[in-house]
Amino acid sequence: SVYPPEPWRVKMVEPLRTTTRKDRETALRAAGWNPCLLRSEDVYVDLFTDSGTNAMSDRQWSALMRGDEAYAGARSFYVFEQAVQAFYGYEHVIPVHQGRGGENILSRCLIRPGTHVPGNMYFPSTRAHQELNGATFHDVIVDEAHDPSSEHPFKGNVDLAKLRAVIAEFGAAIPYVSLAATVNMAGGQPISVENLTETCALAHAHGIPVFLDTARAVENAWLVKQREPGRARCTVAEILRALCEPTDGAVMSAKKDSLANIGGWLALRDPALAEQARGLVLLYEGLHTYGGMAGRDMEAIAAGIAESVEENHIRARVAQVEYLATRLCHAGVPIVRPTGGHCVCVDAAAALPHVPRTEFPGQTLACAVYLEAGVRGVERGAVSAGRDPETGENRLPSLELLRLAIPRRVYTRAHMDLVADGVIAVHRDRDRIRCGLRFTCEPRQLRFFQARFEPT
Ligand code: F0G
Repeated sequence: SVYPPEPWRVKMVEPLRTTTRKDRETALRAAGWNPCLLRSEDVYVDLFTDSGTNAMSDRQWSALMRGDEAYAGARSFYVFEQAVQAFYGYEHVIPVHQGRGGENILSRCLIRPGTHVPGNMYFPSTRAHQELNGATFHDVIVDEAHDPSSEHPFKGNVDLAKLRAVIAEFGAAIPYVSLAATVNMAGGQPISVENLTETCALAHAHGIPVFLDTARAVENAWLVKQREPGRARCTVAEILRALCEPTDGAVMSAKKDSLANIGGWLALRDPALAEQARGLVLLYEGLHTYGGMAGRDMEAIAAGIAESVEENHIRARVAQVEYLATRLCHAGVPIVRPTGGHCVCVDAAAALPHVPRTEFPGQTLACAVYLEAGVRGVERGAVSAGRDPETGENRLPSLELLRLAIPRRVYTRAHMDLVADGVIAVHRDRDRIRCGLRFTCEPRQLRFFQARFEPT
């Protein structure tokens, strides 16, 4: 796999602490066998998430100094608004503290009890807000997305027949279609511009709006450039606009693509809906010109948006993900194919077939990789999927994964090799993992963040 030289050099370092296996055993036991509850000091390479863990550039750090911290009408808001309008093309820009703040507001504005929201696979916080407001989520992603070994280039695509069936059944009770680019839970898989455009046309023909989760839409645009016929000559910025263009609005976690450590926005085309959303922002986030962010955060995001679509940046970012994936693949570790934009996902059900799904092979593998190498990933399987709000039963998603999400501009190739060596060693010795995990404490909401376990 090609590893292009990083298009940046290091100006400041953050020392890392090394630990022994014994240290890690103590730490993991104290964390209730949930890597999320570890202290970051006890982690060597932290691939828990690519969210808010990015390294900012010197330009972003200097933009912080321009932050206007006025309560109302801060100059930094207008800089931020202009960047979102220019690169994403939406008219009404409403700042929020992070992605889920926008999900809360959009769901509250549009969802009524008993309604139905179709989408290309669920994301935990997105679906939780939809369900909290009384909707039922319907997965209309293509079947290939549920098959880790399928090489389909656009596993984020909507299956239009599935969407048509949901529309035929629920019609007027569908407040909107909830799309994501890329699809995180499928392993950072992209949606094609063609499929997104057709999906919007189908929804619009039935009077249903479409909202796009743009958290990783720049990475999606890069994968479109590589994989979608006719798009190779477009710039990433052009493809990003093409992805947003047919949609009615977007929810953004600026902690991902935009290279910031916090922040987000909700963007809408309909002025009446924007007015309603601004009213709720006042209640849940902050004034409509800061939405829970400091002025400096908005400056850092505006600078980060411009950097995110630079081709040298996005090429190196996705190539680093691909490098780790290729090393694991060559060593026979089962991973989700093809490689996505922000993470490498190990197929834990295939890696640990002797651990029953009810004993959480993804969580078990996350613990084993931490103990082996001090590398922290996150389970994306049955623990993340939670329980069905109606039946109370555990949901068993098709994918049972250990996700290794790569922060942007943070780790080097040597770090990637350390991760690969650790995962390969655990996979080689997988028969030594004799049992899975059971809950000792199971929170109601987004249980994967705070749950505690013990070995079975
Ligand atoms: N949508 C997607 C696709 C996400 O991946 C996330 C967060 C959110 C919405 C919520 O945004 O965290 O800013 O409130 N994903 C992180 C992850 C937490 O690790 O995948 P947020």
